[in-house]
Amino acid sequence: MKIRSLLIALSLALAAGPVVRADDTPLGERMEKMGGAFRALRRQIADASKNADSLAKLATIRKNAEESMKFDPALAKDQPADKRQKFIADYQGEMKKFMELCTKLEAALKANKNAEAEKLCAAMGDAQKAGHKQFKKDDKKK
Ligand code: HEM
Repeated sequence: MKIRSLLIALSLALAAGPVVRADDTPLGERMEKMGGAFRALRRQIADASKNADSLAKLATIRKNAEESMKFDPALAKDQPADKRQKFIADYQGEMKKFMELCTKLEAALKANKNAEAEKLCAAMGDAQKAGHKQFKKDDKKK
């Protein structure tokens, strides 16, 4: 009996089909990696004794942000054909600005300027929020 209900549950799950999430996209995968590193970075950004590790976390963010430039946001497909190019160019422009913040943050951490690093980290958080509002599918709907 138990096996029977298990089989029913399994076939129902299979019939429902795969759930498509943003992390199934190559861009979503990079973003997930940025997300983990950024969470940790934010927690320790003020602590100068952790600057070496903060630089390592930042390197992960930077590498994945750089790779993110190679992919179009999933939302690009939903744009009218005549607006799609601009949407993608805007996305790349914002990502480039984000990477410039990474460069500044790297310099601040290397110089042990943690008060400045804190501000730059907050600016990266703002860029994340704005970037998601403009280019991320789920955030658009809200
Ligand atoms: C600290 C910076 C950032 C972090 C930690 C971050 C993190 C994330 C996370 C966790 C997701 C969800 C991925 C998933 O659902 O699996 C995501 C998605 C996304 N993010 Fe970011 N993000 C950052 C900055 C940005 C910026 C600056 C932009 C745009 C210029 C951006 C554009 C997007 C887009 C378009 C998606 C949806 C993925 C897709 O369309 O395939 N993100 N991000």
